[in-house]
Amino acid sequence: MKKVKWGVIGAGGIADRRTIPGMLLADNAELVAVMEINMGLAESLREKYNAKYAYDSFEELLKNDEIEAVYIASPVNCHKEQAIAAAKAKKHILIEKPVGLTVEEGNEILKVCRQEGVKIAAGFVMRFHTYHQKMKQLIAEGKLGDIVSCRAQLTCWYPEIAGAWRQVKKLSGGGCMMDMSIHCMDLIQYVVGSRAKKIASFNSTNTFKYEVEDQSSSIIELENGAFAYVDSNFNIPDAAAKCRFEIYGTRGSALCEGTIGQVEGGTINVVVTETGGYDAQQNRNDVTPLKIDGEFGNMYTKEIESFGRSILDNTPIEAPAEDAVFVQSVIEAAYKSTEMGKIITL
Ligand SMILES: NC(=O)c1ccc[n+]([C@@H]2O[C@H](COP(=O)([O-])OP(=O)(O)OC[C@H]3O[C@@H](n4cnc5c(N)ncnc54)[C@H](O)[C@@H]3O)[C@@H](O)[C@H]2O)c1
Repeated sequence: MKKVKWGVIGAGGIADRRTIPGMLLADNAELVAVMEINMGLAESLREKYNAKYAYDSFEELLKNDEIEAVYIASPVNCHKEQAIAAAKAKKHILIEKPVGLTVEEGNEILKVCRQEGVKIAAGFVMRFHTYHQKMKQLIAEGKLGDIVSCRAQLTCWYPEIAGAWRQVKKLSGGGCMMDMSIHCMDLIQYVVGSRAKKIASFNSTNTFKYEVEDQSSSIIELENGAFAYVDSNFNIPDAAAKCRFEIYGTRGSALCEGTIGQVEGGTINVVVTETGGYDAQQNRNDVTPLKIDGEFGNMYTKEIESFGRSILDNTPIEAPAEDAVFVQSVIEAAYKSTEMGKIITL
């Protein structure tokens, strides 16, 4: 099988923890080069993953003609410069979320990719969870009826850490909403197939001393009329996390627990009803959940293989960066909502 030759920019964080190990399992990918901020780290990652080249400069990596695509997993403040340079070097791009610090940065990146004729996908890896794909399919088939209510939640424990770029707004663009609600907002819109129209959002720094929010709750009205509740926290212990994803429609519901995260797992419970008749007893007990089949794999492998197919065979991009920039516009509206104490229309 033909393989895409990959270079990784910012190879020491999530790339090392999840994406490179996932890439090595992909049937259409070959890791060729890694880049890190110093040669010692770059060289140790090159050796660990048996890559051909190590760099301490992204400009040098981009000069390598063997590389066809880059995965950008550096801190968010580096994304714009690196993505634009990659597009100009004619490399296809898988870029981590958020695409840039702002919607404006994201749009600049998209514009250069269009001009240079390169493909760009966003790191919305949770789209590839087998249960999320099942939910999307059930909804598209109308099994849950009209979708009226949704909830997605992602939390972690993230105390003050000296030098952490995520805790500095000019390096990250924001706190838990920018970092984690972004996945939840994307998942709801992707699975339901409807975009956000209005948002009311609460964001505050309640537990820790850093400048970005450590708790975030938003209510979104989607184009199809459904309401969605998205919450993310940096101040809930990991062991207490539930990471719920719930969709309710006029004919049924789909509830996932523990599926929004970096490892494919968790549970799904789907109820599909037959009648729309009124039941004065409001029976909630006599229900048989639908059996949902689906095997767990590695979501990062699926993400890399999927974008690889888009590069090699021109298949549609499953997580286009345009969608990520749209989600970022929802987040910018959410910050505005918090600041103004108002509902914002997108
Ligand atoms: N999709 C996911 O599952 C997921 C999970 C975590 C993080 N992310 C995203 O990945 C990106 C990186 O986050 P992280 O958690 O890996 O951060 P991190 O700080 O753990 O790792 C970032 C890496 O980039 C390197 N780096 C720093 N400056 C650089 C530069 N100028 N050029 C190249 N590399 C540089 C650092 O040395 C570090 O190894 C962010 O956009 C984040 O939102 C995505």
